Amino acid sequence: MTKKTNIKGVILAGGLGTRLYPLTKITNKHLLPVYDKPMILYGIETLRRSGICDIMIVCGREHAGHFMNFLGSGKEYGVKLAFAIQDKNNAGISDALLAAEDFAEGGGVAVILGDNIFENDFAAAVKKFKQGAMIFLKEVPDPERFGVPVFDKSGKIILSVEEKPETPRSNFAQTGFYLFDGNVFEIIKKQKPSKRGEIEITDTVNRYLKKSLLAFAFIKGWWLDAGTFDSLLKAAAVIKEAHGKK
Ligand code: DAU
Repeated sequence: MTKKTNIKGVILAGGLGTRLYPLTKITNKHLLPVYDKPMILYGIETLRRSGICDIMIVCGREHAGHFMNFLGSGKEYGVKLAFAIQDKNNAGISDALLAAEDFAEGGGVAVILGDNIFENDFAAAVKKFKQGAMIFLKEVPDPERFGVPVFDKSGKIILSVEEKPETPRSNFAQTGFYLFDGNVFEIIKKQKPSKRGEIEITDTVNRYLKKSLLAFAFIKGWWLDAGTFDSLLKAAAVIKEAHGKK
């Protein structure tokens, strides 16, 4: 059994889910089915397998009751759940994270974007994590859809992370799992909205990078961002196949 850690988990499940309209008019994107269970359970499972059982779910006010109704205290899933509301939908991923400041009680947080599904857990990285921030990268065919790291010539040092660049400078995507120390909230409070009006997680990551406090690792196993119709369909197929192999 995975050892529990002091780091708390945060699942960001706000946003408008406009890419999945009209499904997201019925309920929150993260409660939509991915093969045999609602999307949110994959994030809970990843955190639990990573040794994190104290978890806050941040969502928008629309459909907020659906989360509590479905998940309850979290006991059924082996975790303890807390809930918070991001008042302004789509104010950005880091804005949503700010809602978990009191919950973190000054400690570090493992953050997972609610529409990200991972084959493997992060138990080893979580166990070792002490300070700064850590991001997790995966090679992808379509980096322009994601946050993309720019490496130096050695390929061992990240110079910056660019959010959805038109011309990506590497083939890697920043996945939706992050480790941050307790300073993250003060860092976010100093951020300004990006051109698209969001308090961006990529800006938060870059601020750690500027202080030489950013670590990174490449992840093994499949990783899916189920935020569009095509990726939602693909996620269901990948999970069905994975079930078949068990
Ligand atoms: O999937 C990984 C990518 O996720 C990263 O590579 C990007 O750097 C990162 O910006 C993000 O990009 P997306 O375009 O996929 O982000 P999206 O707007 O879909 O939001 C991801 C999750 O974050 C979503 O499932 C809900 C949550 N969220 C998002 C926003 C904008 C919130 O809770 N509140 C928000 O205001």
